[in-house]
Parts: sequence; structure tokens; C-alpha cells
Amino acid sequence: MLHNSPDFLNITVFHGPQFPGRSTFEKLKNLTLVEVSSPEDMKDASHAILLLDHSLCKTGGSASQWRTGRLWPFLIIGEEGVDFCDFLCPRGWPDIFSLKALEGAIRELTLMLSRKNLSEELSDEHEKLFQLTHIGLALSAEQNADKLLSKILAEGRHWACCDAGSLFLLDREGDEPKLLFKLIQNDSVDFPFKEQTFPLNKESIAGFVAVTGDILNLPDVYHLPERAPFHFNSSFDETANYRTRSVLTVPMKNHNREVIGVLQFINRKTSQDIKLNSPEITLEHTRPFTDEVVVLLKALASQAAVAISNSILVRQIQGLFEGFVAASVHAIEQRDPTTSGHSFRVADLTTALAEVLPRSGRSRFKDLTFDDHQIKEIRYASLLHDFGKVGVREPVLIKEKKLTNSNMEIIWHRFALYKEKVHTLSLQQRHEFLLQYGRDAFFERLPLFEKEMTERMAQLDNFYQEICLANEPTILDSERHSHLTTVQKMEALDINGKPLKLLSEDEFLALSVRRGSLTPEERKEIESHVVYTYEFLRKIPWTSELRRIPSFAVAHHEKLDGSGYPNGWGHQQIPLESKMMTVSDIYDALTASDRPYKKALSHERALDILKMEAGKELLDKDLVEVFIEAKVHHYIEPREARQKLSFGNFDPDLHKRSVCDYDIHHTAEN
Ligand SMILES: [Fe+2]
Ligand SMILES: [Fe+2]
Repeated sequence: MLHNSPDFLNITVFHGPQFPGRSTFEKLKNLTLVEVSSPEDMKDASHAILLLDHSLCKTGGSASQWRTGRLWPFLIIGEEGVDFCDFLCPRGWPDIFSLKALEGAIRELTLMLSRKNLSEELSDEHEKLFQLTHIGLALSAEQNADKLLSKILAEGRHWACCDAGSLFLLDREGDEPKLLFKLIQNDSVDFPFKEQTFPLNKESIAGFVAVTGDILNLPDVYHLPERAPFHFNSSFDETANYRTRSVLTVPMKNHNREVIGVLQFINRKTSQDIKLNSPEITLEHTRPFTDEVVVLLKALASQAAVAISNSILVRQIQGLFEGFVAASVHAIEQRDPTTSGHSFRVADLTTALAEVLPRSGRSRFKDLTFDDHQIKEIRYASLLHDFGKVGVREPVLIKEKKLTNSNMEIIWHRFALYKEKVHTLSLQQRHEFLLQYGRDAFFERLPLFEKEMTERMAQLDNFYQEICLANEPTILDSERHSHLTTVQKMEALDINGKPLKLLSEDEFLALSVRRGSLTPEERKEIESHVVYTYEFLRKIPWTSELRRIPSFAVAHHEKLDGSGYPNGWGHQQIPLESKMMTVSDIYDALTASDRPYKKALSHERALDILKMEAGKELLDKDLVEVFIEAKVHHYIEPREARQKLSFGNFDPDLHKRSVCDYDIHHTAEN
């Protein structure tokens, strides 16, 4: 019966020299029997039963003394009269009682061992679960794709105590799927690594795992199973004087059970500190991957696949956003091609200003930081700040002069008609004069007729010229306005003899605009682009990191004194990001070389105007100063000029510039 116990043979029974009943010993011959005289003799045991008789108590002490310090499963069968025992036997150890007590003790000890093992396994499982959770959290927190892959491999290697590891990704784009050798890590040798792609097939170990989706656990890659369809490529070992031995290759499968990559763990070591500097050391200090390790690394591979899939998804969403923003900017530029590039330049200038601001030496900005998300938020808001132009009527949006070409054509025809009328009237007068006064008087009067008509024609030409001059979007001075009023007041007769105005009321009002080309109504319509921008942007379900884009963009025409639009916000209400955008927007509006309504200003003149605006407390003075001191404008100048950017420490190539433009704003002109 005793022999049926699974732990029977592992149980040691300690006893004293006086232990009687040799026949009992014979029945227990499959147990390990060890004679002891003191508790010290049991120090190497991990679980045991002690037969404690009175004579052993004399040499080794009482049951409690034998029990002291035993943290492992331990039971005492005491001879009658020995206190604090787990089982008792009648004095003299009669065989039948000894065997019964021993059987009971063995059962109890077996149960104790079983409980201990279960408890240890549970603790191990708990630890593994904890580690898996920890790794899962670490992986899900990593947003940089390259760092994520590196972390996956490093965590797995650390966990399984591996000297090296590789990571492969499946590239399914293109006609033929490929295996991208993405990453390699090795604690013992340094070597140059370059990403490479391979055809996806079963010829390599990683390829086999990628194609089949099966785990491959190879104790020694130099002794592969016969007829294995794959082979080990030893070129790296030969080049780096390395010995690859145990290799575990695990597929990474996404939620659809598709293999998206392969993790390869190489040379499981006996200790993390050992460097496998030679083949001999490798053979001595590496071991195969156990089933337990395989299970853990398989779990890691599952987590890695989820993390990589998430990372790809996030990149795709970001790509979607980038594409959407690019398409929107394209739409703006299509609507108003003369502004081409303005959005990109304002984005470049504003993000450059944001980058240098914390290093500008001003206490107000010293604790300011813009992380990658915030820079992206500023960039998108800047790129889309004028998107509302799509809601402005085209004749207004692209209006170069005060009157359109068709307006001017009508006026020209009106003048031509009237000149014809003047000519006709002059001829009628001459005809009537000839009939009334005769030929001689007529020829005497003719030069005067000619002179009157020529003067009248010249006056009309002069008036038309005044209209053309007034039509230019420059400042209309009072003298010119007075000439215009004269033209407007002039009345003539059309060919039917009805009164004819050379300039209609609407034409006069449009030409009377003292600055720029827009009437007050048209200016309001242009200004409404900010509201359209806001309405458009707020309909987009931005992620939480980008949620402030609409509020940044809507305030790019606000002024610190509340005189801006559309909300008349003041210093306190305008976000800092919008204030930066305003400085960039005005600078680009002033210096853009292709605005049809005015010439580009020089860089110096534009900076003077920015300073002037800041002096009037319309713009943020500190931001303007930093913009000038840090030479932020170099960001939209040729590449070599951008190297001169002050307050250094940021990469000019982070932001690409686009081509030239003009802005629809008419701020701080002239
Ligand atoms: Fe604007
Ligand atoms: Fe703008």
C-alpha cells in the first residue's frame, strides 16, 4: 500500500540508533532510511519523517527541538511518552502500529508536499501573470514604433535569459509577400546591422515559422532534424565568430490569427551576465528552451502582435489625418491658387516659433513645453487656419482691384458710347450751324467746333483715366477721391437722350474704398472665413490630443486689444498658440511675393510692421521679439539660410517648407 504513493521513494525516514524492530525496516526497504543522532544531521533534507524514540530524545532533544527551523514539510512519529509529535506509536514500536503510523505520516507528508508544490506553482503562475501584465502595459504605452519593436525583443530576451534575438515583420504589400529582417540584438558581439528583406518561404527558420504559423524550438541549430525543410544560415556566426545554438522561433499572430511577424530568441543562457565570446563558452553556458519558457514567450508574442497591430493602426489613423489635412490644404489652394503655400509657411513659422520659445530666455516661457502631440496640434491648426476661404464667394476671394474686369469693361463701353454721343452732338451742331449761317461762316467756326469736341473727348479720357487709377488697390488720397466725385456727379445723355451717369452709385462706392480693394461688405465676407474655418474644424472628431485645433484656428485674426475678429477676444482669451499663429500669418502676408493686390514687403520692413503692431499692443510683444531674435523666418527661406536659425537644438528637417503664396488678410499693410 505504501508503495503506491507517488512520493514514496522520495521520502526520507530519519531514526535513532536504538530504533527497534528490524523487521519493520525490511518492510520499509524502498524508503530512504537515515540514522541520525541530533537535529543537525537533518540539515540537508527538504522533507522528511522522523521516528523519535526516547533514546533519540536523549541525544537530540525533544520533538519541539527537532522541529525548530524546519520550514519544509516535516512530520514526527513519536514513541509513546514523547510530547508534541504528529503521530504516536506504542512504546517498543510494535511492527503493525509502526507501519500504520508510518503509512499515515507518508500520506500526510505527501499531501503537504503536494500543497507546497501547488502553492509554489500558483506563486510562479502569479509571477508570470504579473510579468506578462507588466510587459503588456509597457508595450501598450510605447508609441514609437521602432522603440516598441526593440522593447518587445528586449523584454522577451530578458525574460528567457537569452544572449541574442531577432525580430522579423511580414511585408504583404506588393505582389509577393516578404519577410523584413527588422531588428537584431546581441549581448556578446557588436556588428553592423541593416534592415533586409527576404522572399517569404520555408527555407529559413524564420520563414518556416512565418509561413506555417508554428513554433520552432531547436536545441542546437547545427543539428537540425533530418528532412527539415529549412536550414540554418551560419554566415553571421562565421563573420562575428559567434556560435548560435539554442533557438526558439515564435510567430506573432494578430487578432485574425494571421502571422504579422516572427520573434527569434537565441542562445538561452544559464546566467544573464555571461558573455558568449567563444563557441566553447556558448556550448558550456547555453541550454535549450523548456516547455515552460516556450509557453511564456508564446504569450509574449501574442501581446507583441497586439501592440504591433495597434501601432500600425495608430500609424494608419495618423496617415489618414495627414492625408485629410493635406487634401484640405490642397482644396484651399485650388480655391485660391494665388495663396499657394501660405498655409504651409504659416505652419512652418508657427511650429518653429513654438520650438524656440522655451529657450528664448524669457521667464514667461521658461517652463513652457510643447510635446510632439502639441506641436502636431499647432501644425494642423496652422495648416487649416484659412480653410474657411472655401466658404467665401470667388469674385470676392480673388478680387485683385476695386472693380472687376467686367465692371471696367462696362465703364469703358459707357465712355466709348458717350464719346460717340459727344461726336454726334458736335456733328449735329455743325450741321445746324451750316444750314443757318452758310458755308463761309461755317468754315470760320469749324476750328472752334473741333476744339470744343477735342476738349470734351480729352476730359472724358481724363475721367476714364481717373477711374482706372482709383481702381488700383492702393491708398486713395483725398485729391483722387475729389476727382472721382467730379466724375460721379457728371451727367450726360445717352443715345436716346436720356440722362446717363458715367459712374453708377455702386461703382463709385467700390472705387471710393480708401485702402485695398474691398468694400466694407466684401471685407466682412472675407473676414467670415474664420467662422467658416471654425465651423468646419469643429465638425471633425479630433482625437483628444488634437481637440484644441478649432479654438487655435478661430483666433488667428484676434488682437490683444480686442479689436480683432470674429469674437473680439482680448489678451486673456486668445490662446498662446493662436498668438504665435497670428505673428506668422502677418509676417507671411506681408512678405509673400505673389499677392496680386500689392507688392511683397522686404523682410526688414515686415519685421518693422510686426514691431509696430506689437507696440500698439495688437500683437504679443514677447512673441514678436522671439520671432525676430530667433530668426524664425529662416524656416521659410532656402535650406541653407535655415541653418542660421538661432536658439538651435531643433532639427530644421522636421518641417518641410512649401512654395510661395499670399494671404487674404489685409493687416498692417503699407
Ligand atoms: Fe485668415
Ligand atoms: Fe492666413
